[in-house]
Amino acid sequence: MNETPVSVSTMVEFTLDDEVVKVPDGSTILDACRREGIETPTLCWAENLTPVNVCRVCVVEVEGSRVLVPSCSRAVEEGMVVATDSERVRTSRRMVYELLASSVEMDRADPEVHAWMEHYGARPERMGDRSEIATVAQPVKVQDDLYVRDYERCILCYKCVEACGDDAQHTYAIATAGRGFGAHISTEHDVSLPDSACVYCGNCIGVCPTGALAFKTEHDMREAGTWDESSQSVTTTVCPFCGVGCNLELHTQDERIVKVTSPADHSVTHGHLCIKGRFGWQHAHA
Ligand code: SF4
Ligand code: SF4
Ligand code: FES
Repeated sequence: MNETPVSVSTMVEFTLDDEVVKVPDGSTILDACRREGIETPTLCWAENLTPVNVCRVCVVEVEGSRVLVPSCSRAVEEGMVVATDSERVRTSRRMVYELLASSVEMDRADPEVHAWMEHYGARPERMGDRSEIATVAQPVKVQDDLYVRDYERCILCYKCVEACGDDAQHTYAIATAGRGFGAHISTEHDVSLPDSACVYCGNCIGVCPTGALAFKTEHDMREAGTWDESSQSVTTTVCPFCGVGCNLELHTQDERIVKVTSPADHSVTHGHLCIKGRFGWQHAHA
C-alpha cells in the first residue's frame, strides 16, 4: 500500500538579534520576530491583508544590504543576519513617525501607534511649526449616518484600499488618486460615498490605524467630548443576521453600542463584515 507523503515544511536557519533561530521557509522577517517574541511596529501591515510596504516603520537591518528592509514583506533567507534594534533601525523608525505626525493629525491613532512613538522618542514638532509646514488638513467628510472619512488623519497606508478591493470586499469603491503630496484616498471621480460603489461594509474602518475612517457614532462622540474608551467594554457574540456565523465585537459605552469590530484571526470573517453585522445594531436600542 502506498503511504500518503507527509508534508514537512522546510525550515530556514538565520540569525535574529544575535540568536540563531529556525522558521518555516517562506516566513517573513516579521513572522519570525512575532514567533520569537520580538515586538515590531507596523502601520501598513495587517495579518488579514497583503503587505504593501508603504510605511517603512517596520524596517530592520540585514547584513550586506545597503538599505534597511521592510520586515513585513521580506522573506527570511538561510544564513541571513538581521538586527531589529540597532541605532540605525531606531533612528529610521523614529523619523518615519516624526514625518508622518508632522503632516497628519495622529491624535486618534491606535494606542500602539502612540506607544511606539513614545518608545522611539519621536518628536514631530522638531520638523517645524505646524502652522508653517504643509499638512493634509481638510474638512471631515460626513456624507451619511454610518461612517465618516477624516483624511487629515490619513497616512496613506493603503489598508482601506486593500480591504475594499482584492483582500476582502472586492468592491473597489476607493483607491489612491493624485501624486506626491497631493496623493489621497478617493472614490471614483471623488463622488460622495453614497454615490460611489461603496456597499457600506465598513471593512475599511476596521483596518484603518489612525482613525481617519470612523463610525459616525465614534466621530460624533469624540466631537462632543463624550468618547471614553476606558469606560467601554467589548462583548464578543455571533452575528444574528444570517448563518455564516461571523463574530461581532460589540463596543459599548453607557449601555449603548458605539461601534462594531470583528477579530482578525477569526476563521470565517478574518476581521471583515458586511453592512448588517457592522452597522445593523440600532434595533438593539429601540
Ligand atoms: S465601506 Fe466597504 S465597500 Fe465602502 S469603501 Fe469601505 S470597504 Fe469599500
Ligand atoms: S484612510 Fe486609514 S486605512 Fe485608508 S489609507 Fe488612510 S490611514 Fe490608511
Ligand atoms: S508595516 Fe512594513 S512597510 Fe508598513
